[in-house]
Amino acid sequence: MSKLVTIDRHIMETQPPHATGEFSALLNDIAFAAKLIGREVNKAGLVDVLGFTGTTNVHGEEVRKLDEYADDIIFKALDHTGRLCVMASEEREEIIPIPAKFKCGHYVLMYDPLDGSSNIDANVSIGTIFSLYRKVSSAERGTLEDCLQPGLEQVAAGYIIYGSSTMLVFTTGNGVCGFTYDPSVGEFLLSHENIQTPKRGKIFSVNEGNSYRWDSGTKAYVNYVKQVDKGTNRPYSGRYIGSLVADFHRNLLYGGIFLYPGDLKNPNGKLRLVYEANPLAMIVEHAGGYASDGHRRILDIKPDGIHQLTPLIIGSLDDVKEAEDFIQGKR
Ligand code: AHG
Ligand code: MN
Ligand code: MN
Repeated sequence: MSKLVTIDRHIMETQPPHATGEFSALLNDIAFAAKLIGREVNKAGLVDVLGFTGTTNVHGEEVRKLDEYADDIIFKALDHTGRLCVMASEEREEIIPIPAKFKCGHYVLMYDPLDGSSNIDANVSIGTIFSLYRKVSSAERGTLEDCLQPGLEQVAAGYIIYGSSTMLVFTTGNGVCGFTYDPSVGEFLLSHENIQTPKRGKIFSVNEGNSYRWDSGTKAYVNYVKQVDKGTNRPYSGRYIGSLVADFHRNLLYGGIFLYPGDLKNPNGKLRLVYEANPLAMIVEHAGGYASDGHRRILDIKPDGIHQLTPLIIGSLDDVKEAEDFIQGKR
């Protein structure tokens, strides 16, 4: 049997000697929340957590019961730990202060509590995405300034995918690893050590239903990957689940490119920089891939707001660079 490596053991074995153990504790806090969310997701069809709450979020999207449940679980699992100074969530318009009764810590957590919500009722894989920064403001408790750091300043990033199994994939800047949840012991165990994504894939993921609104460069790129050229694995296979975490995870392991481009109606696309693009960009770069908005490296972008939208082109390095050339009119 392979080594039984828990999150604790992995962090202990890979963190620098002076590490305070706060990271390991934070990742365990997130893993604890993931266990609770995964439990609800897995029995969603049996209990009354499917369907809508009747409310809409800051993005004008109808909030589903599981969105709200996941958001609440993450907040409650981490608000009292003394490790965070502020949080921000896709489901909440403003930043989330740590309640005054709890002490503040040195870290900032941004998260998408449930990604792929539109797929919940169809039993399709969905996920949670998270991003961790160090506190930079001089204020006693966390502020908006702490939540608007460029993605390059992330100290850790990860996601949980609730699929055929529940998997936690993260990086603390020292490679990308995957832990698969074993419900029989209630532990996440290391299953994918040092994930590296292929330099070039043969899968493209994009919602072609929006193609009538794309700019000419995006149209030219998607047509290009569908032309026959055995020298570059073309034509690529089209794969689109509609859950960013699921599409990203498949392409991370198999190689390929995911695009949610800007278009004539939504020049900045639909995905959010702070709690969707940045965490996945940190992961993909530490796995040898790349993430761009078509013109700039995602991790270099300074956010203006916690719900700021960005076009996202992410995945295998050669594929993303090739897409950038088309989008920038160089091909
Ligand atoms: P969320 O459920 O957190 O709002 O995210 C949904 C996103 C993302 O998961 C996915 O890639 C994208 O919406 C799909 O959008 P389209 O249905 O427009 O393709
Ligand atoms: Mn999302
Ligand atoms: Mn979401």
